[in-house]
Amino acid sequence: MVTKKIAVLFSGSGSNLEAILQKVHNKIFNNVKIEVVLTLTNKANAYGIERARRYGLESVVIEHTKFASREEFDQALVDEIKKHNVDLTVFAGFMRILTPVFTNQIKAINLHPSLLPLFKGAHAIKESFESEMLVGGVSVHYVSEELDGGKLIMQRAFEKSDDMSLEEFEEKIHAIEHEILPESIVKILCK
Ligand code: GAR
Repeated sequence: MVTKKIAVLFSGSGSNLEAILQKVHNKIFNNVKIEVVLTLTNKANAYGIERARRYGLESVVIEHTKFASREEFDQALVDEIKKHNVDLTVFAGFMRILTPVFTNQIKAINLHPSLLPLFKGAHAIKESFESEMLVGGVSVHYVSEELDGGKLIMQRAFEKSDDMSLEEFEEKIHAIEHEILPESIVKILCK
Protein backbone atom coordinates (compact mmCIF):
# COMPACT_ATOMS: atom_id res chain seq x y z
CA MET A 1 0.00 0.00 0.00
CA VAL A 2 1.17 3.53 -0.77
CA THR A 3 0.55 6.59 1.38
CA LYS A 4 -0.27 9.92 -0.30
CA LYS A 5 0.33 13.00 1.81
CA ILE A 6 -1.73 16.18 1.64
CA ALA A 7 -1.51 19.68 3.05
CA VAL A 8 -4.74 21.55 3.81
CA LEU A 9 -4.75 25.36 3.83
CA PHE A 10 -7.65 27.33 5.36
CA SER A 11 -8.51 30.85 6.52
CA GLY A 12 -11.70 30.55 8.55
CA SER A 13 -14.25 28.17 9.99
CA GLY A 14 -12.61 25.11 8.50
CA SER A 15 -15.77 23.05 7.95
CA ASN A 16 -14.22 21.75 4.73
CA LEU A 17 -11.00 20.94 6.54
CA GLU A 18 -13.13 18.92 8.97
CA ALA A 19 -14.87 17.12 6.08
CA ILE A 20 -11.44 16.12 4.78
CA LEU A 21 -10.31 14.95 8.22
CA GLN A 22 -13.52 12.92 8.66
CA LYS A 23 -13.78 11.43 5.20
CA VAL A 24 -10.26 10.89 3.85
CA HIS A 25 -7.60 11.38 6.55
CA ASN A 26 -5.98 8.04 7.40
CA LYS A 27 -8.47 6.26 5.13
CA ILE A 28 -7.65 3.83 2.33
CA PHE A 29 -9.08 4.07 -1.20
CA ASN A 30 -7.99 1.63 -3.93
CA ASN A 31 -5.06 0.53 -1.77
CA VAL A 32 -3.88 4.15 -1.34
CA LYS A 33 -3.84 5.66 2.14
CA ILE A 34 -4.38 9.42 2.38
CA GLU A 35 -2.76 11.29 5.23
CA VAL A 36 -3.13 14.96 6.16
CA VAL A 37 0.41 15.86 7.22
CA LEU A 38 0.09 19.63 7.33
CA THR A 39 -2.73 22.01 8.28
CA LEU A 40 -1.83 25.64 7.65
CA THR A 41 -3.68 28.92 8.04
CA ASN A 42 -2.99 32.59 7.36
CA LYS A 43 -5.29 33.64 10.23
CA ALA A 44 -4.19 33.16 13.83
CA ASN A 45 -7.84 33.12 15.02
CA ALA A 46 -9.22 30.72 12.40
CA TYR A 47 -11.67 28.24 13.95
CA GLY A 48 -10.21 25.53 11.74
CA ILE A 49 -7.23 25.46 14.13
CA GLU A 50 -9.56 24.00 16.80
CA ARG A 51 -11.08 21.51 14.41
CA ALA A 52 -7.63 20.24 13.37
CA ARG A 53 -6.59 19.96 17.01
CA ARG A 54 -9.46 17.52 17.64
CA TYR A 55 -7.73 15.24 15.15
CA GLY A 56 -4.37 15.69 16.85
CA LEU A 57 -3.04 18.13 14.25
CA GLU A 58 -1.35 21.35 15.33
CA SER A 59 -1.72 23.96 12.56
CA VAL A 60 1.07 26.11 11.25
CA VAL A 61 0.14 29.82 11.23
CA ILE A 62 1.73 32.01 8.55
CA GLU A 63 0.10 35.43 8.61
CA HIS A 64 0.14 37.28 5.29
CA THR A 65 0.06 40.58 7.15
CA LYS A 66 3.61 39.95 8.38
CA PHE A 67 5.09 39.97 4.86
CA ALA A 68 6.04 42.95 2.73
CA SER A 69 4.79 41.44 -0.53
CA ARG A 70 2.53 38.70 -1.88
CA GLU A 71 5.63 37.00 -3.30
CA GLU A 72 7.39 36.80 0.08
CA PHE A 73 4.28 35.37 1.73
CA ASP A 74 3.90 32.85 -1.10
CA GLN A 75 7.54 31.77 -0.75
CA ALA A 76 7.01 31.19 2.98
CA LEU A 77 4.01 28.98 2.14
CA VAL A 78 6.06 27.09 -0.44
CA ASP A 79 8.93 26.56 2.02
CA GLU A 80 6.57 25.15 4.67
CA ILE A 81 4.70 22.91 2.23
CA LYS A 82 7.96 21.58 0.74
CA LYS A 83 9.20 20.53 4.18
CA HIS A 84 6.37 18.01 4.35
CA ASN A 85 6.87 16.33 0.97
CA VAL A 86 3.19 16.38 0.07
CA ASP A 87 1.59 14.91 -3.04
CA LEU A 88 -1.19 17.50 -3.13
CA THR A 89 -2.06 20.81 -1.46
CA VAL A 90 -5.75 21.51 -0.85
CA PHE A 91 -7.29 24.96 -0.36
CA ALA A 92 -10.30 24.54 1.92
CA GLY A 93 -11.51 28.14 2.22
CA PHE A 94 -8.00 29.57 1.88
CA MET A 95 -8.75 33.17 0.95
CA ARG A 96 -5.57 34.35 -0.74
CA ILE A 97 -4.72 35.18 -4.33
CA LEU A 98 -1.50 33.38 -5.25
CA THR A 99 1.39 34.62 -7.37
CA PRO A 100 3.51 32.50 -9.75
CA VAL A 101 5.97 32.06 -6.84
CA PHE A 102 3.38 29.67 -5.44
CA THR A 103 1.62 28.36 -8.55
CA ASN A 104 4.85 27.45 -10.35
CA GLN A 105 6.10 25.36 -7.43
CA ILE A 106 3.07 23.75 -5.79
CA LYS A 107 0.35 21.48 -7.18
CA ALA A 108 -2.80 22.68 -5.47
CA ILE A 109 -6.58 22.46 -5.79
CA ASN A 110 -9.20 24.99 -4.71
CA LEU A 111 -12.84 24.82 -3.68
CA HIS A 112 -15.20 27.54 -4.91
CA PRO A 113 -18.89 27.99 -4.04
CA SER A 114 -20.24 28.49 -7.58
CA LEU A 115 -20.38 26.83 -10.97
CA LEU A 116 -17.21 28.31 -12.42
CA PRO A 117 -16.44 30.17 -14.58
CA LEU A 118 -19.51 32.00 -13.25
CA PHE A 119 -19.31 34.08 -10.08
CA LYS A 120 -15.59 34.20 -9.42
CA GLY A 121 -14.35 36.11 -6.38
CA ALA A 122 -15.32 36.59 -2.77
CA HIS A 123 -19.12 37.02 -3.13
CA ALA A 124 -19.94 33.93 -5.15
CA ILE A 125 -22.72 32.60 -2.94
CA LYS A 126 -24.70 35.85 -2.78
CA GLU A 127 -24.18 36.58 -6.46
CA SER A 128 -25.29 33.15 -7.62
CA PHE A 129 -28.27 33.23 -5.24
CA GLU A 130 -29.37 36.61 -6.61
CA SER A 131 -28.75 35.69 -10.25
CA GLU A 132 -31.44 34.53 -12.68
CA MET A 133 -29.90 31.08 -12.80
CA LEU A 134 -32.13 28.20 -11.78
CA VAL A 135 -29.25 26.16 -10.40
CA GLY A 136 -26.45 26.82 -7.94
CA GLY A 137 -23.39 24.70 -7.39
CA VAL A 138 -19.83 24.10 -6.33
CA SER A 139 -16.54 23.68 -8.22
CA VAL A 140 -13.17 22.17 -7.43
CA HIS A 141 -10.33 23.23 -9.72
CA TYR A 142 -6.55 23.35 -9.95
CA VAL A 143 -5.01 26.54 -8.57
CA SER A 144 -3.52 28.83 -11.18
CA GLU A 145 -2.39 32.45 -11.22
CA GLU A 146 -5.84 33.47 -12.34
CA LEU A 147 -8.27 33.96 -9.45
CA ASP A 148 -10.70 31.03 -9.41
CA GLY A 149 -9.32 29.96 -12.78
CA GLY A 150 -7.44 26.73 -13.49
CA LYS A 151 -8.65 23.42 -14.89
CA LEU A 152 -11.87 22.07 -13.39
CA ILE A 153 -11.72 18.77 -11.49
CA MET A 154 -15.30 18.34 -10.26
CA GLN A 155 -18.56 20.30 -10.21
CA ARG A 156 -21.95 19.57 -8.67
CA ALA A 157 -25.16 21.53 -9.21
CA PHE A 158 -28.53 21.66 -7.47
CA GLU A 159 -31.85 23.24 -8.36
CA LYS A 160 -32.85 26.46 -6.67
CA SER A 161 -36.37 26.21 -5.34
CA ASP A 162 -38.65 29.26 -5.59
CA ASP A 163 -38.97 29.68 -1.85
CA MET A 164 -35.32 29.05 -0.96
CA SER A 165 -33.77 31.61 1.41
CA LEU A 166 -30.15 32.73 1.11
CA GLU A 167 -29.41 30.75 4.28
CA GLU A 168 -30.90 27.55 2.81
CA PHE A 169 -29.01 28.14 -0.44
CA GLU A 170 -25.77 28.57 1.49
CA GLU A 171 -26.41 25.42 3.55
CA LYS A 172 -26.93 23.41 0.37
CA ILE A 173 -23.66 24.79 -1.05
CA HIS A 174 -21.73 23.81 2.07
CA ALA A 175 -23.27 20.32 2.12
CA ILE A 176 -22.12 19.78 -1.48
CA GLU A 177 -18.67 21.20 -0.70
CA HIS A 178 -18.25 18.68 2.09
CA GLU A 179 -18.91 15.91 -0.46
CA ILE A 180 -16.98 17.02 -3.52
CA LEU A 181 -13.77 18.31 -1.97
CA PRO A 182 -12.98 14.92 -0.33
CA GLU A 183 -14.17 13.15 -3.52
CA SER A 184 -11.82 15.28 -5.63
CA ILE A 185 -8.85 14.41 -3.42
CA VAL A 186 -9.61 10.70 -3.83
CA LYS A 187 -10.12 11.16 -7.59
CA ILE A 188 -6.70 12.80 -7.97
CA LEU A 189 -4.65 10.62 -5.61
CA CYS A 190 -6.28 7.19 -5.63
CA LYS A 191 -7.37 6.43 -9.19
C1 GAR B 1 -16.34 27.71 1.41
O1 GAR B 1 -17.68 28.06 1.11
C2 GAR B 1 -15.48 27.80 0.18
O2 GAR B 1 -16.16 27.43 -1.00
C3 GAR B 1 -15.14 29.26 0.15
O3 GAR B 1 -14.86 29.56 1.51
C4 GAR B 1 -15.72 28.76 2.33
C5 GAR B 1 -14.88 28.14 3.44
O4 GAR B 1 -15.68 27.50 4.41
N1 GAR B 1 -13.98 29.53 -0.68
C6 GAR B 1 -13.91 30.54 -1.55
O5 GAR B 1 -14.80 31.36 -1.68
C7 GAR B 1 -12.63 30.58 -2.35
N2 GAR B 1 -12.70 31.57 -3.39
P1 GAR B 1 -15.02 26.64 5.58
O6 GAR B 1 -13.96 27.52 6.25
O7 GAR B 1 -16.14 26.33 6.52
O8 GAR B 1 -14.43 25.42 4.97
